[in-house]
Amino acid sequence: MTLHDVDLAVEFCGLQLKNPVMPASGCFSFGKEMEMFYDLNLLGAIVVKATTLEERMGNPTPRIAETPAGMLNSIGLQNPGVEKVIRDELPYLRRFSSLPVIVNVAGTMVEDYVAVVHRLNDSQDFDAIELNISCPNVKCGGIQFGTDPEMAAEMVKAIKEASNRPVMVKLSPNVTNIVEMAQACEAAGADAISLINTLIGMQIDVEKRAPLLGNGVGGLSGPAVKPVALRMVYEVASNVNVPVIGIGGIFTGKDAIEFLMAGAKAVQVGTANFTDPYAIPRIVDEIKEWCAAHGVKHIDELIGAANPMSRRRG
Ligand SMILES: Cc1cc2nc3c(=O)[nH]c(=O)nc-3n(C[C@H](O)[C@H](O)[C@H](O)COP(=O)(O)O)c2cc1C
Repeated sequence: MTLHDVDLAVEFCGLQLKNPVMPASGCFSFGKEMEMFYDLNLLGAIVVKATTLEERMGNPTPRIAETPAGMLNSIGLQNPGVEKVIRDELPYLRRFSSLPVIVNVAGTMVEDYVAVVHRLNDSQDFDAIELNISCPNVKCGGIQFGTDPEMAAEMVKAIKEASNRPVMVKLSPNVTNIVEMAQACEAAGADAISLINTLIGMQIDVEKRAPLLGNGVGGLSGPAVKPVALRMVYEVASNVNVPVIGIGGIFTGKDAIEFLMAGAKAVQVGTANFTDPYAIPRIVDEIKEWCAAHGVKHIDELIGAANPMSRRRG
């Protein structure tokens, strides 16, 4: 079997993806900076930076800290606001002929999330929404919705009513029962679930005897979070019927395959883009090579392969 015999195409929420690998929100900006490295058509899809109603400057610096197996960030939803995203960013991404565009939507209250979605509805330059109810880095922004099943359901219902595109809901790992959160979102109408966002952490500057990040705490991402993410993806895929997107510490094709086998239909790559700008096309190639070496003709054969519960749910 050769690489040409392997088909990585997947379909979810009505989107046709040529492969199941896309950048995670906030780790690829709005794509422009990455075009110098490779053709963005190589991506399965693109998920852009969190977009809020008004422009946001984000949190005080320092906003990034390296950790032994990953990084902490406290960016705090810095973005130009929905008007500029619609005018300056999304039309640029539409130039790529086979690149589904997913807009990550964030806010503070249900009303401003809904306002962002209403504004987006008129744009033809994106295909789906990823609802960010899981950002740990802003005061009263999203995270309460991501840790309380009833509030999450209220938000998802409002966004589903407002949106004329499919809605994926991105979950926070900073909860006791991730399945309860996923099921509440599914019952409220979510078309897909993506997980995980970052785990809340911190670092102390011992010379200053103070927290290192300007915001005090930040979100942990990278290889350190992969086992937690994988466990949560496995649990959620076993207990919901909508498609699941796996995120957290994916650096190699084998990492991605673990998430697919746990039941994810697609994956997102975040922190890896900061250490290797070619991470996503490399991961796509590595998945293909693994499939060819193991006689896997279609990526579907791997989805849920290690999770019989998720396969039964289809
Ligand atoms: C610098 C940085 C910025 C991020 N910004 C966002 C964001 O705007 N919206 C969002 O939903 N997630 C954001 N995330 C979370 C990632 O999308 C992803 O869920 C998380 O980092 C775990 O994946 P990883 O280990 O592959 O990085 C951000 C992560 C990092 C490291």
